[in-house]
Amino acid sequence: MMIQDTIKIAEQMDAPPIDAQIFRAAMKKVATPVTIIATGNAEIRHGMTASAVCSLSDQPPMILACVNRNSAILPHLRENGCFSANFLAEGQAELAQCFAGMTKIYGSDRFNHGAWTTLATGAPVLTDALSVFDCRLECEYDSPTHAVLVGRVEAIVKEGTTRALVYASGQFSFPAPI
Ligand SMILES: Cc1cc2nc3c(=O)[nH]c(=O)nc-3n(C[C@H](O)[C@H](O)[C@H](O)COP(=O)(O)O)c2cc1C
Repeated sequence: MMIQDTIKIAEQMDAPPIDAQIFRAAMKKVATPVTIIATGNAEIRHGMTASAVCSLSDQPPMILACVNRNSAILPHLRENGCFSANFLAEGQAELAQCFAGMTKIYGSDRFNHGAWTTLATGAPVLTDALSVFDCRLECEYDSPTHAVLVGRVEAIVKEGTTRALVYASGQFSFPAPI
């Protein structure tokens, strides 16, 4: 049987339902970066911890971030038209917990933790993050649960020596080099 025939048969079969618990358990094993997505203007700042953040392209320089539709930051991010993606370093797990709402701190009060400044867009950026990408919101795609945001990078800051903070198996850690 040719590979094309196999593909045709597979297409004709009903896809088996994927159990959400199995999906979550499989995905939990995967190590992800830990970022704080932040937006702001002269008056108010918003930020949240996000792992669904990655590079989209280097020419033009674009970042992709997936933000839950119910998250407090989303309307402010759209209104400001900008966001920063602050990739965290080892030693910043407490900051990640704070911006994930795990310490019951909400809204602008989260910015009492960490040292923040601004670069090109006016979005708050973390001064001692591993890598910071200051982005203008370029476009947004819809999914049923999340807004998939594409940002054009206008400024970058990178830390030289520290290790990346990652999230895997429900825990924060920092991988050692092989
Ligand atoms: C490690 C980690 C990664 C997360 N990644 C995301 C993400 O990529 N997108 C998202 O919408 N929420 C993500 N969250 C959840 C948000 O940080 C959390 O819901 C936060 O409280 C949202 O902010 P808000 O309370 O101001 O709405 C993550 C949480 C943790 C702990």
